[in-house]
Amino acid sequence: MSGRDARAPRSDRFPREFADILSRQGRRVLAGTHPLAGVLAEPRTRFAAADDLIDARAAARLRALLDRHLTDALERIDRPIPPETIWDMTEDYAERLPKATRVSTVYFDSAREAGARFARRIGLDTMLRSQSFRAFAAALAGRDLADGWGRQVLCYGPGDYAGPHNDHHPKNRRARAGYIDVHLSLAAPAVAHQWLVYARAGHFTETVSVAAPATVSAYRLPFWHYVTPLVAKPGRVSAARRWVLLGTFLYAA
Ligand SMILES: [Fe+2]
Repeated sequence: MSGRDARAPRSDRFPREFADILSRQGRRVLAGTHPLAGVLAEPRTRFAAADDLIDARAAARLRALLDRHLTDALERIDRPIPPETIWDMTEDYAERLPKATRVSTVYFDSAREAGARFARRIGLDTMLRSQSFRAFAAALAGRDLADGWGRQVLCYGPGDYAGPHNDHHPKNRRARAGYIDVHLSLAAPAVAHQWLVYARAGHFTETVSVAAPATVSAYRLPFWHYVTPLVAKPGRVSAARRWVLLGTFLYAA
């Protein structure tokens, strides 16, 4: 293999189109004939998830590719709860909790970032930019989505989590009225459990497992949610990780 930007062999690459990793159920979403088609357009539904929309063999293959090619490009995000949130309080029961989180990520912001280079090489970037990814997100959203969307990769290891946050972006003119996230979660068999908890009608009552081999989740943001610490099966700590491929979509103008 010559040069760091050389493409990996086909067997070591993501398919070009997101549609190519869908199961029969996933293709029904794309065709608009699945019960989840248009689910986020329902006024009271801000979140939906399913663990049978991705072809099982494709999911296992892609997870192995991420393990092999992106692990070295991961950068740590470690944002603990500031101690001032306790010790600078002057009123009883006046807690304010900023977003605390611990997770690893691959940065795509600049094409020169090491992670972006690896992601291009294995075709991950191409798949996350594919029109069928946007079409799939639009099918879940039940409305047209803008061209040009954000992409991100996260990797949760044992003890990694995201504290309560709402992903509201009031400073972004096009996002402040709401937007759509679609996540593809690929969890190793060594993961015992990890949960997404979200608020409905003002309370954290909704709990969804994200520990299945392949979970697709769709968010009509903003709303409050958090992700519990990933827990490994006994003796499986080093293999316990969950990759998340994210797309962030604005509504079409
Ligand atoms: Fe979030």
